[in-house]
Amino acid sequence: MRPHLFNPMMPTSLQISHAADILEKGGLVAFPTETVYGLGADAENPAAVASIYATKGRPANHPVIVHLSPEADLSYWAKDIPDEAHKLIAAFWPGPLTLILKRADHIPDAVSGGQDTIGIRCPSHPVAQALLRSFKGGQGGIAAPSANKFGRVSPTTAQHVRDEFIHELKPNGLVKMVLAGEQSEVGIESTIVDLSRLAAHGPVLLRPGHITSGQLAAVLGRKLTAPATGHETPRASGTLEAHYAPHTPLVVIQPAQLDPVLGQLQRANRTTALLTYATPPRNDCVSQIDLSEQATEYAYELYASLRKLDMAAADVILVVAPPDNADWHGVHDRLKRAAHDSLGVLARLIK
Ligand code: TXA
Ligand code: MG
Repeated sequence: MRPHLFNPMMPTSLQISHAADILEKGGLVAFPTETVYGLGADAENPAAVASIYATKGRPANHPVIVHLSPEADLSYWAKDIPDEAHKLIAAFWPGPLTLILKRADHIPDAVSGGQDTIGIRCPSHPVAQALLRSFKGGQGGIAAPSANKFGRVSPTTAQHVRDEFIHELKPNGLVKMVLAGEQSEVGIESTIVDLSRLAAHGPVLLRPGHITSGQLAAVLGRKLTAPATGHETPRASGTLEAHYAPHTPLVVIQPAQLDPVLGQLQRANRTTALLTYATPPRNDCVSQIDLSEQATEYAYELYASLRKLDMAAADVILVVAPPDNADWHGVHDRLKRAAHDSLGVLARLIK
């Protein structure tokens, strides 16, 4: 992860306490985390949580992650906390890891979409931590999904959030404040591990991310399983098929397909915005962003790049698939969801 440098954009302590005050009164505040920016509300105020759903245009039965300060009392939020949770917390909190645990009985089910579990994360970002320490004396929980409209690309800068909620940020709008920080240094959403049904399923990796399944398995001393399909799987919006999508159709291709596919698109008079890694500039596309061949660097720039390529208003965003190994699991997962129906899109464009 990148170190946090001094940044004049960082909020002052006065702005932090103002933001905490807004949250305590039931308002929404967007804030930076090390993964992506979140749209926060008081997790114990169901009306405030409902306004997150309204703002995002997200179905109310999708659970949201509750963010806690490092000093918060986890047993206030979750019950029957297994040893596995303590091990993962010792290794990875604060940081980009969300744990699904059994929800304590008095916690409103608005945050978990009516399920008996709760998703909890302790972010490492200094602004997120300052906000959590100031909110309800450091013992509150901030429910926060990524600060984007439902199904769209997650924001990694304060400007992305302002672009996303341009209407909701008006004086009478639902989003009262955007706390700014640097570009989120991880760049993709937290890894999610479900520990709520250990006896039946073992630890389940619900969403891959910066913390890899190999790192998790090393701490737990056992492999994680993939989510089972079927009604027992908890609803997780990050696990829907089409998600994290730009407006322009996005197609993922293998490196060897780049020349032939660009040729076909040109012959069909289609314009292309191109996302590559370790590839020299090309002149047969309207826009190209070339990213690192290192997974963490690539992830850091991924969402900002998709937003920029989307603005080129090309007929298609073509993404050259990154290497196929465990380090890239989180990136592949996001690309797959953003692409959705690659083959069908391509066939329609070049027919
Ligand atoms: O990195 C992140 O996790 C960011 C930052 C803001 O912390 N947040 C984020 O939130 O990605 P969101 O709402 O966009 O995605 C949260 C994911 C969803 O897939 C949601 O369904 C899942 O977490 N989730 C939350 N609580 C859950 C629960 N009780 N059971 C199963 N999945 C849960
Ligand atoms: Mg999201």
